[in-house]
Amino acid sequence: MKRRATTGDVVEERRAEQAPGPVGSVLFGALSSFRKDTLRLLTELQREYGGVARMKMGPYLVHQVTAPEAVRHILQDNARNYVRGRFYRGFNLFFGRGMLTTDGAEWRTRRAVGRPFFHRAGLRARSDVITGTVEELLASWEPSARSGEPVDITDDMMRLAMGVLGRMLFGVDLRRYADRLLPAVRFSLKAMIITGEVEQLLPRWVPTSYQRSLKRHQRTLNDVMDEIIDLHRRGEGSPDSVVTALLKATHGATGEPFTQRQIRAELKTLFLAGHETTGCALTWTLYAIARHEDVRRALDAELTEVLGGRVPTAEDLDDLPYLRAVVDESLRLYPPIWLFPRDAIADDRVGGYHVPAGSTVLVPVYAAHHNPAVWDNPEAFVPERFCPAQTARPANSRPANSLSACPRSTTDTDADAETEGAPRQRDRYDYFPFGGGARKCIGMDLALLELRLAVAMVVQRYRLELVPGHPVSPTALVSLRPQPGVLLRIGPADRDRTAPSA
Ligand code: HEM
Repeated sequence: MKRRATTGDVVEERRAEQAPGPVGSVLFGALSSFRKDTLRLLTELQREYGGVARMKMGPYLVHQVTAPEAVRHILQDNARNYVRGRFYRGFNLFFGRGMLTTDGAEWRTRRAVGRPFFHRAGLRARSDVITGTVEELLASWEPSARSGEPVDITDDMMRLAMGVLGRMLFGVDLRRYADRLLPAVRFSLKAMIITGEVEQLLPRWVPTSYQRSLKRHQRTLNDVMDEIIDLHRRGEGSPDSVVTALLKATHGATGEPFTQRQIRAELKTLFLAGHETTGCALTWTLYAIARHEDVRRALDAELTEVLGGRVPTAEDLDDLPYLRAVVDESLRLYPPIWLFPRDAIADDRVGGYHVPAGSTVLVPVYAAHHNPAVWDNPEAFVPERFCPAQTARPANSRPANSLSACPRSTTDTDADAETEGAPRQRDRYDYFPFGGGARKCIGMDLALLELRLAVAMVVQRYRLELVPGHPVSPTALVSLRPQPGVLLRIGPADRDRTAPSA
């Protein structure tokens, strides 16, 4: 005979539907540990509780999602149920309501205005803008290369990314504003993360020094964007820039033009999302190459064979599989966007577990990219894992002949493979430095093009060496920043060391 369900059964069933996770009080949950050592906390949660972990962060119910099928569910299959939510409120302080922070129709209009600027073919056709900007950086390093004086490359990489972004999208050289913008960016990177610290929770009218700094830096970002917009309104900007497109854009439903505030929000979004991420990725990649002499030699050998010292074109990149693997591995080990949050609109089941409406879902790219169940020796920098033909080889066994590190014949150039660096036998959502689904990074192709061209040019011109006694660790601000910075000594490349003097 069938037994009737009792109240106890219902409670049991609810518990069974709950994802595993640490026990903590609603008010004194994981928030304090989150602040202290975020990356370790996220990776430990993943290792201890698996692909979907439930926890309380201060007052919030949060699920951390790293299982590839659950990530696909959130970003792609049931993406409509997930909005930017409470953790994005801090982003609004600096980005404004733009492509990154809005949802639904508001987002669609903004994404449609931006889309034409990010087509792969169009970007590749203008790759000389990127290589020209990198040339200027390489020339600026010459005095340091002569003197042997170490350079902290972090700000240089930010300026490089700013230079490229400005010329490719804004129709102006953003580096002319760098001295004003960089301090505002440094402040905003910390202030955007809602940590629950008292100074963040106080009402904005309370005149604390934090609020004064916040207003000052917000004003700087707004002022610079207004200057760029005004320049275009006066007809002094580029007719092909994203600024011109925004000045002409209208909202589909009403036919109304974008307001000054909306244009400014869009420009701040492209500026902040575009330069900081790419600058971080460039810094981490050069750091990783400097740390791994065998990788540097293998890369230099490939570059010498294909380019022989000349400036690369976008087409050359198809013949440089090891370069591509080095960049992909750097984005795995040091994903510049290490986490992205969403809030659930309605109740959902994720990876078999109940996720209630109104709760938060965190997708920590960093923890997924460091998952030992997916990646052999996940903390090691091993570009060979991204050589498609060699994925069966243990991750640590680099061949003695470094030129065979990534056979050229296996380079994938079809659209899908180019979308993400992960080899086919891995799940699409084992590796997702640029996110996924409709909200995937709009700037991915620009970032990858810039990273590959810049790294090829730097490694051909200079050998970068770490300065002993300057440890670097990843710090989880809005982006994954190397702290305290990356100090490198810039010396001549191998071919210039051995070349007979003129
Ligand atoms: C290595 C460099 C970059 C990385 C790792 C990166 C990563 C990401 C990720 C993970 C997202 C998705 C966030 C989410 O779903 O919540 C995203 C979105 C976005 N990225 Fe990037 N990004 C990079 C470069 C760029 C560049 C160069 C631009 C523009 C010039 C850009 C503009 C944007 C914008 C506007 C969005 C929001 C897109 C939307 O919601 O429709 N990013 N990026």
